[in-house]
Amino acid sequence: MTDPVLAIDQGTSGTKALVICPERGVIGSGSAPVRPRYGPGGLVEVDPAQLIGSVLDAGRQAVADAGEPVAAVGLANQGETVLAWDPATGRPLTDAVVWQDRRAEGICGDLAAHGDELKRLTGLPLDPYFAAPKMAWIRRELTREGVVTTSDSWLVHQLTGAFVTDAATAGRTQLLGLHDVGWSSAALEIFGLSDERLPAVVDCAGQVGTTTAFGGEIPLTGLLVDQQAALLAQNALEPGQAKCTYGTGAFLLAQTGSRPSTGSTGLVSCVAWRLGGRTAYCLDGQVYTAASAVRWLTDLGVISGAADLDPVGASVPDTGGVTFVPALAGLAAPWWRSDLRGSVTGLGLDTTAGHLVRALCEGIAAQVVALADAVASDLGAPLTTLRVDGGLTRSSLLMQTQADLLQRPVEVSALPDATALGAGVVARLGLDPDLPPSRATPPWQPSGVYEPRIGPEEASERLAGFRSAVDSLLERA
Ligand code: G3P
Repeated sequence: MTDPVLAIDQGTSGTKALVICPERGVIGSGSAPVRPRYGPGGLVEVDPAQLIGSVLDAGRQAVADAGEPVAAVGLANQGETVLAWDPATGRPLTDAVVWQDRRAEGICGDLAAHGDELKRLTGLPLDPYFAAPKMAWIRRELTREGVVTTSDSWLVHQLTGAFVTDAATAGRTQLLGLHDVGWSSAALEIFGLSDERLPAVVDCAGQVGTTTAFGGEIPLTGLLVDQQAALLAQNALEPGQAKCTYGTGAFLLAQTGSRPSTGSTGLVSCVAWRLGGRTAYCLDGQVYTAASAVRWLTDLGVISGAADLDPVGASVPDTGGVTFVPALAGLAAPWWRSDLRGSVTGLGLDTTAGHLVRALCEGIAAQVVALADAVASDLGAPLTTLRVDGGLTRSSLLMQTQADLLQRPVEVSALPDATALGAGVVARLGLDPDLPPSRATPPWQPSGVYEPRIGPEEASERLAGFRSAVDSLLERA
């Protein structure tokens, strides 16, 4: 019997931990919430104590639930969330600036002339979403002390004392050379970060240190940014295979194999993972607010939570002419307009909560269609199906809307916590470097498939309505 591993997914709204055994599957689980703060000017911050606290809570719950020791730990992280901290003591010097935070817009404006060069060097368009603009903003506005890194480096330092980041998370900074997978001195210079002490870039699987945080001394053998972890867990190992995770945001990633895509649609081209020194690449498109937009409707009192989407949406047959562009933290690929804000149009005295819910689902799904179209154009072939995971896949309304607008089957993962499972895969590969990734990943088993229920004409008409609402926002900005 193979020893289980502890897989931890430290996400925007919470941390999920699983104890996973190849023969017995998931044998323990735990979770702990994280509560970002929102403020004017696009502020989204979180107390770093909540990040590490939730990792410890969720991890310990999972190990206690499993009732047996684990052989290794794997950690998935949020990607572009950044903080400054003291490398001597590990003490945070700032709050963590969350990936959704827009306050580095000014930095991006100042560096606009370098946008094309940065895209060529790193595969990433210039946008406050990525880590480097936030790092530069922290240096300009908050502190010049300590180191400034993505949250994974700080968490790993808290757990093991090591100062590292994995190649895929480093690829979310806009400081990593896309082809040589090493820190780019040219990109560092553009951001004014040449003098920074940066973490060592390591493979996604391999021991980086040990931790006693979860009982005994356990090696940390897997590190991977969260969306790529879900891509790995969904067994998308062949070029052209794609997945979308509907979490705080929605993220569509497509595997491109051993070469980065140089497409022109504005998608991010980046590292999927580096295993045994070999890099796999992916294309990545983002909807910044998915569950975040559901939370926003909930905070307004329109619904009482994500579980309400289906019953409230079922109270009406359609959107009633309402169009919702849920760009509550700006628009990412293929538009890259972090300055835009959301819109709800077509409201009438007869508009109900049901119409708003349906319009929100339509807005999220229409953005995912735009990403799928961009992926198809960059890859030169349409996606045949879409594999999906994440909390919002529990909404049949959203998933059916997605299949309808995409005009492709949507296959829902039977594994609700795909990101944590991906962290488990790299932890397992770190323990056994001879294991091929295809044998460490669970076979693809959808729990259900949503087939399109409308024809292509209706889908085009509904998508055109959404696009024209986006065009109005672009014209007004
Ligand atoms: O790029 C940010 C994203 O990966 C965060 O994922 O699961 O926290 O919404 P999640």
